[in-house]
Amino acid sequence: MLYARKIKEDFPWFSSETGKKNIYADSAATTHKPKSVLDTMNALYTEYYAAVNRTSHESGEIFSEMYYDAHRRMASFIGAESADEIIFTRNCTDAINHAANALLRTTEPAIAIGKGDRIICTIMEHHSNMLPWQQLAQLTGAEIVYAGLYPDRTIDIDHFKSLINGRTRIAAFSHVSNVLGTVNHVAQLCSICRDAGVLTLIDGTQAAPHMRVNVSEIGCDFYAFSGHKMLAPSGTGVLWGRTALLEKLAPSFYGGGMISSVTTQGASWNSPPWKFEPGTPDACGAIALAGSEANGRRLYGAVDYLEAAGMDAVLSHEKKLSAYTRKLLAEIEGVEFLCTEAHSGITAFRMAKKGREENSHIVGTLLNEMNIIARTGGHCAYPLHQYLDINDSGSIRLSYYIYNDKSDVEAICSALGSINLL
Ligand SMILES: Cc1ncc(COP(=O)(O)O)c(C=O)c1O
Repeated sequence: MLYARKIKEDFPWFSSETGKKNIYADSAATTHKPKSVLDTMNALYTEYYAAVNRTSHESGEIFSEMYYDAHRRMASFIGAESADEIIFTRNCTDAINHAANALLRTTEPAIAIGKGDRIICTIMEHHSNMLPWQQLAQLTGAEIVYAGLYPDRTIDIDHFKSLINGRTRIAAFSHVSNVLGTVNHVAQLCSICRDAGVLTLIDGTQAAPHMRVNVSEIGCDFYAFSGHKMLAPSGTGVLWGRTALLEKLAPSFYGGGMISSVTTQGASWNSPPWKFEPGTPDACGAIALAGSEANGRRLYGAVDYLEAAGMDAVLSHEKKLSAYTRKLLAEIEGVEFLCTEAHSGITAFRMAKKGREENSHIVGTLLNEMNIIARTGGHCAYPLHQYLDINDSGSIRLSYYIYNDKSDVEAICSALGSINLL
């Protein structure tokens, strides 16, 4: 069980002027950072900062070892077999673009995508897990098709299955919807794809920060997520890929650090993960995300904070808050939830009294005036809103994390109740 009020004390933002004044319910967009993570950033820049993976001087070697240890710790956090399967990226968008770009450039027959091939996506995807695949389809001449949803607003597995044909190369779908909050049956979807020889990429942006994730058990080929949505600094993210796949793929981008040799006419590539990490990485951000130990000093990352809390406890805490939110909001006339039950810390809904046009932006503006930080609009999932027949103003989304408590829920629901009386 988590004591969110106590947890708030670990996050300096909540005792700042802004933090004291506001209630924060927008963690699906980004999260606040605990002091341990801020202290690690400070220690890295004040004591350890150097060039990584490029130098033979001692401080560069120590910093490089710390950075590699962050890969190890992240691998252990998500149940990956090797540190070399962890590619640090800028965010989830960057991670998915890495995968799509690498596939675009890959000529290896078993995984290359070409004219007439098929890419499966789903209608619930965030634009970050839709546009890179649309572009890949347009650039290769492949087609992109979308699986729909069951009435409970999880991915319709029967429909998904019916979309697989002999030319299907990859399926990209989310673990948890950033709008609906529903948790998809990802292991089942991966097993269907594996049997059909289809690669899988899971967008785990709304899952990895909130629940136990084990990529080996799920059986996917790629898993992507953002660090800044899981208590780590902004500018951090992860793409996990199976070693055998990463070895076959072409690099996603080119530059320093990712080569084993270069001539004026060509180059050969370093082994993963470096093959996919060209340029100077955000090593401080990655270490503050995953934690590290080097030179006898342990630096704590966001992953350490979450592991100490326990991922099962994090999910159970958030689900309780969402269930309580649904109970209180159900008493407000005109509230319509976008999914049937609380699956995670995300609750999305529409709100309008009879005879009044629904406009989520107005609700967002009023919530802001009442010092409630929530998100309204299309949540970077426009096709989903179109599919659900929701107007352009989109929906209202409350998203909780480890630091929210019952009193936050009560204050938000009471504000929404008063907005509805206006
Ligand atoms: C499900 C999902 N995928 C991808 C993203 C993109 O994340 P980022 O903006 O950190 O790249 C988000 C962001 O909200 C998301 O919720």
